[in-house]
Amino acid sequence: GVTRHYKFDVRLQNVTRLCKTRSIPTVNGQFPGPKIITREGDRLIVHVINHLNRNITFHWHGVRQLQSQWADGPAYVTQCPIQGGQSYIYNFTVTGQRGTLVWHAHLSWLRVHLYGPLIILPKKGVAYPFPQPYKEVPIMFGEWFNSDPEAVIQQALQTGGGPNISDAYTINGLPGLLYNCSAKDTFKLNVKPSRTYLLRLINVALNTELFFSIANHSLTVVETDATYVKPISTNTLLISPGQTINVLLSTYQTTPNSSFLMAASPYTTTAGTFDNTTVAGILKYTAKILPAIKPTLPPFNDTTTATNFNTRLRSLASPSYPARVPMKIDRRFFFTVGLGTSPCPKNATCQGPNGTKFAASVNNVSFVSPSIAMLEAHYYRFLKGVFTANFPGVPLIPFNYTGTPPNNTFVNHGTKVVKLRFNTSVELVMQDTSIQGAESHPLHLHGHNFFVVGQGFGNFNPNTDPARFNLIDPNERNTVSVPSGGWVAIRWLADNPGVWLMHCHLDIHLSWGLSMAWVVEDGALFNQKLPPPPLDLPKC
Ligand code: C2O
Repeated sequence: GVTRHYKFDVRLQNVTRLCKTRSIPTVNGQFPGPKIITREGDRLIVHVINHLNRNITFHWHGVRQLQSQWADGPAYVTQCPIQGGQSYIYNFTVTGQRGTLVWHAHLSWLRVHLYGPLIILPKKGVAYPFPQPYKEVPIMFGEWFNSDPEAVIQQALQTGGGPNISDAYTINGLPGLLYNCSAKDTFKLNVKPSRTYLLRLINVALNTELFFSIANHSLTVVETDATYVKPISTNTLLISPGQTINVLLSTYQTTPNSSFLMAASPYTTTAGTFDNTTVAGILKYTAKILPAIKPTLPPFNDTTTATNFNTRLRSLASPSYPARVPMKIDRRFFFTVGLGTSPCPKNATCQGPNGTKFAASVNNVSFVSPSIAMLEAHYYRFLKGVFTANFPGVPLIPFNYTGTPPNNTFVNHGTKVVKLRFNTSVELVMQDTSIQGAESHPLHLHGHNFFVVGQGFGNFNPNTDPARFNLIDPNERNTVSVPSGGWVAIRWLADNPGVWLMHCHLDIHLSWGLSMAWVVEDGALFNQKLPPPPLDLPKC
């Protein structure tokens, strides 16, 4: 492979949306950030220079980081942040994967502004397992706040209550014509008739799963999270924060007398407030201004549509792209994921349920970010005071949906990990708990892909549900939604030594502690060992 160099100058830039100008952190003055494009097998060198007066880190979401664990990026997990005025070189080779991924900041809520597409083309001379598209177009969904998102999350953490919600969703940074004052800030896709386009959909919104549809056009899903799937055709799809979906779009055979809106709106079953608005872009066949046809999007709480879409996805599982589902399982885990509450600190007034503070947890443990990087503590073996290897394999308080909700809201705060021997095959069932209405949780695992072998509603039944697992062609992903009021089962092989965060990709839940980490120990061979840290690794 070749080596590709990118320079990320992180600095403030004035950006105007919804008629308000705000100074936001950007990469090279661009919002959204620059597109990184590479090929499978190539090395990426991203030189980050932080000109802000605050800490940042970057994460290459979905990149496995085999032998480059120090480049993964979550703050205080694989690295200390890059402080203002400092720099760090992310240096990694993309091995064994190709498709659409995303890069984003991985500290507090900074990813609201700092993100961009990360596109990995197949090796030279290797074709897609679907017709070669005429053009490829990244379509990123984001969120825009009129207020400063850092102030929004700080306020939520201090009061223990819910955060202010975003003011708009965006497509490639643009809210679009359905918002006031935004007609000129509308994403436009100019197409020719009788062609096939590959849309690389990326949801990097902070807190919202989204439905997406294009009026009068059906979409053929060919890839999820940079893994090929058996093509399925759909009018509406669901994409969760942290997920990417490639779709083929076939245009009309002759130029139609209208243009078409592409639009995204929220999917949520929360009882709390959320941004219930719609972002739209335009699909145009001619330069003429033509009436636009709107797509019909499902109602925000349409769990049937959400579930039907997710359960149709299957790995391509072809001879060239086999589904390597672990068959013999070494370790099984059951995790509850959901919201909880913790006591209000003395001398504070909390706005969470019954005067408590909102928290979120995995197995009743709410993740506390350490103040030095866990991967360094692991590598240099100075674990004391950084993390403990006693993350519970089952919930601290048994969970049962048949109780009166909200139930099992107890949380214990700590920085706990599960240690895994190199090459352990894992089966993990994640059960959603509910408080004040259930919500689904898009769980993202760093450093690995996993197979979604089963999902269902209500309590997971260990006696009957595993018999229905799909071990032939399950969808392979790096982010899966634990369904609202249900469970999901995943299988993966822990073949990447290091410290790997697993967390809800809704930033509010991550801020509340819906996160844990796995430590994968070294294997015996040279290329199964965690390499030493790069010399420029930031210090805390
Ligand atoms: Cu896309 Cu830990 O993140």
